[in-house]
Amino acid sequence: MQVAVLGAGQVGRAVGLGWRKAGHAVVFGVPDPSDAKHADLGTGMVRAVPDAVRDAEVIALATPWAATEAALRAAGDLRGRIVIDCTNPLAFAPGQGLHLSLGFETSGAERVAGWAAGARVYKALNQTGAEGMAEAAAFPQRPVMFVAGDDPEGKQVVVRLVADLGFEALDGGPLVNARLLEPLAMVWIDQALKRGQGRDFALAITRKPAGKDVP
Ligand SMILES: NC(=O)c1ccc[n+]([C@@H]2O[C@H](COP(=O)([O-])OP(=O)(O)OC[C@H]3O[C@@H](n4cnc5c(N)ncnc54)[C@H](OP(=O)(O)O)[C@@H]3O)[C@@H](O)[C@H]2O)c1
Repeated sequence: MQVAVLGAGQVGRAVGLGWRKAGHAVVFGVPDPSDAKHADLGTGMVRAVPDAVRDAEVIALATPWAATEAALRAAGDLRGRIVIDCTNPLAFAPGQGLHLSLGFETSGAERVAGWAAGARVYKALNQTGAEGMAEAAAFPQRPVMFVAGDDPEGKQVVVRLVADLGFEALDGGPLVNARLLEPLAMVWIDQALKRGQGRDFALAITRKPAGKDVP
């Protein structure tokens, strides 16, 4: 597929390079494509946002929350296009530390859907660390990644793209369920940064084999 990844930082690189490895045509959209820090991503592969999204079937948002609205405005009309929102609406405040700036009554993904009018928006690839996204297949058990969004046809595409990165990609329900998936990201962040898990763990689904009931 033709994929534009907006942002070429930790998450943008993890998912963009992973999709490239899986055979997708990936370009990155960033504020300054001429910045030397992008040189390793390939000549012509890092573009201004409007150029990056021009031919993209799928657009992945991997921008800081505070820059997400501006990135979407630069992208222009995304009507009908598939947008994967990998962001988390994080804010930092003294005494409160890193926290979600939205929740319960809306979500970052629903804001994204408002900014990207008419696009088919999915929340995914926000629930674990960038290191895990870069190497999801390296875990002994496939890490889980939920995909929330409303249009079933587009969801199949997103589920496939998430699975291409090595995740167990599961239907996470409608876009409104981003209100659950953004706090789930905070569970990962809290465990990684405050409870000593470090950044190399991921959440996985485990199932009891049939007939193995506790006596
Ligand atoms: N890091 C993680 O483990 C992780 C995991 C899950 C979700 N997330 C979420 O994913 C998002 C990205 O996180 P990150 O850690 O990858 O951040 P990051 O490393 O700081 O990268 C952000 C990227 O976005 C680019 N950018 C900034 N403004 C932009 C704009 N207007 N248009 C296009 N690109 C723009 C930046 O370019 P410049 O550097 O040139 O400004 C940079 O390439 C955040 O919302 C974060 O909460 C992060």
